[in-house]
Amino acid sequence: MLGLIGGSGLTQFPELKVMHEKTLTTPYGDPSAAIVIAELAGQELAFLARHGSPHVIAPHQVNYRANIWALKELGVKEIVAINAVGGICVAQDTAVISVPDQIIDYTYGREMTFCDHPEIDLLHIDFSQPYDENLRQHLIEAAETVQLPILKQAVHGVTQGPRLETAAEIQRMARDGCDIVGMTGMPEAALARELDLPFACIAIVVNKAAGLSDHPITLEDIHKVLDDGIIDIKKLLKAFCLLKSGL
Ligand code: HPA
Repeated sequence: MLGLIGGSGLTQFPELKVMHEKTLTTPYGDPSAAIVIAELAGQELAFLARHGSPHVIAPHQVNYRANIWALKELGVKEIVAINAVGGICVAQDTAVISVPDQIIDYTYGREMTFCDHPEIDLLHIDFSQPYDENLRQHLIEAAETVQLPILKQAVHGVTQGPRLETAAEIQRMARDGCDIVGMTGMPEAALARELDLPFACIAIVVNKAAGLSDHPITLEDIHKVLDDGIIDIKKLLKAFCLLKSGL
């Protein structure tokens, strides 16, 4: 079964053929929402709304550990996560979709490991390549089958939020090599690696990052981009599921 973590703009997914919902708890607390077991293009999946349903949980308050643990417990074998992001450098244009290959983590104070639980051995996961390359390539292939232009690589900078960045912070992130900036990519990816779950991300640029546009960043503008962008994301997910299910 495929795990799908929906971010802003993908709290609900009416195109799914819902089979049932699972309300779970974990040794780390409750996941963000009930997990929807469903089918998309012949592929069984477990859909979890990262920010809850309705969207109420802030990026720094998401229980990432419970979310990843619950998906693993349900029998998920790999996870695709959707992230709305700001665009920096080449990825500046709104609605650009990328499948990032790298992460720089600027978050702090989040519960970012399972290894502080007495039942779990201390792990030092290899995180040189934070995303699963096989899964990334399948997503890229799926985008090609529906002629959806995407960036095949991007460095995903993850900030603490919930505020947006300053212009100087974005300049620093650009110098660091970040192409996109979001608030929810970590510790999600590292936790999935700790549980040995292949993990990849589809990121959609919903605004130019701070200081890169003449206009302030508004939620209203972000939602406008998301309304259209989410159609492409769903197209990509459907193509990916078709590839996976071999239909
Ligand atoms: N910065 C951080 N996170 C975001 C942004 C941004 O500009 N846009 C959407 N998520």
